[in-house]
Amino acid sequence: MIYDEGSKNVDNLGLASDVIPETKAIEPHKNKFDINKVILEAREEERRKIARDLHDGPAQSLAAILLDLSILVAELPATEELEKLKKQLTKLQDIAKDSLNEIRQILYDLKPVQLNSSLKSALQDYFDQMNIKFGLETEFQTAGVPQNYPTYVQIAIFRLVQEALNNIVKHASVKKACVFLYESEEKITLTIKDEGNGFNKEKELSKSGSYGIVGMRERTVLLGGTFDIISKPGSGTQILIEIPRKGRHYIGESKGNDSR
Ligand SMILES: Nc1ncnc2c1ncn2[C@@H]1O[C@H](COP(=O)(O)OP(=O)(O)OP(=O)(O)O)[C@@H](O)[C@H]1O
Ligand SMILES: [Mg+2]
Repeated sequence: MIYDEGSKNVDNLGLASDVIPETKAIEPHKNKFDINKVILEAREEERRKIARDLHDGPAQSLAAILLDLSILVAELPATEELEKLKKQLTKLQDIAKDSLNEIRQILYDLKPVQLNSSLKSALQDYFDQMNIKFGLETEFQTAGVPQNYPTYVQIAIFRLVQEALNNIVKHASVKKACVFLYESEEKITLTIKDEGNGFNKEKELSKSGSYGIVGMRERTVLLGGTFDIISKPGSGTQILIEIPRKGRHYIGESKGNDSR
């Protein structure tokens, strides 16, 4: 089950309690084949840390500023001289509100993935959320052998889809996405497609301040997979990811306690 705003305790910043979970110690890896798992788990841990820092630092400060501003605005006498000051304070209030909303969105994206049921239903929940929040419709097709690969692999796949869909909402100017997740004995194939703006890869992927696609590629490589983007301006975007299930970068099946 993915975060459900309606059914969880929400704190004074409007954040569900599971957004900022307790840190779990990462078990030291037992042999060299576990190293990629450790790296992927460390990345999730890093997300938790950033979420905690953002929540406890800037988000709390902004909430405090907003509270003080609303008290100030309410207490200012309604005289003509003070009207200008009141307007300026209201402008500051709007900026602080927008910033807090942006931080909430970042925290929402950072939140841990909980695969209580299955990757498929976690993804479906996420697509439903994206539909409610941004009006994005996702066609989701999945087929193949049962999804019995380890939790850290499922979380990595979830994060890959998450970033691709965020990009579609942010950059593609379309309201429809397609996600295909196919599995065979040999590999997992993940395709995320949109028929939106498309982009010039050489130009867009070399600019500074963009980390999403770099992160997707890194995640895929850590799973021993391949990552391709087919895109050009005006022709939509297709992301093709293949992750081997056997071979040199053997992912293996879930063994023992790998849940987080
Ligand atoms: N589906 C898409 N449609 C159109 N353009 C896209 C799409 N996905 C990515 N892009 C382009 O590629 C660029 C790089 O994407 P990337 O996800 O790496 O960074 P970003 O989304 O700009 O920032 P962030 O670091 O927050 O992810 C984007 O800025 C955008 O110009
Ligand atoms: Mg991005």
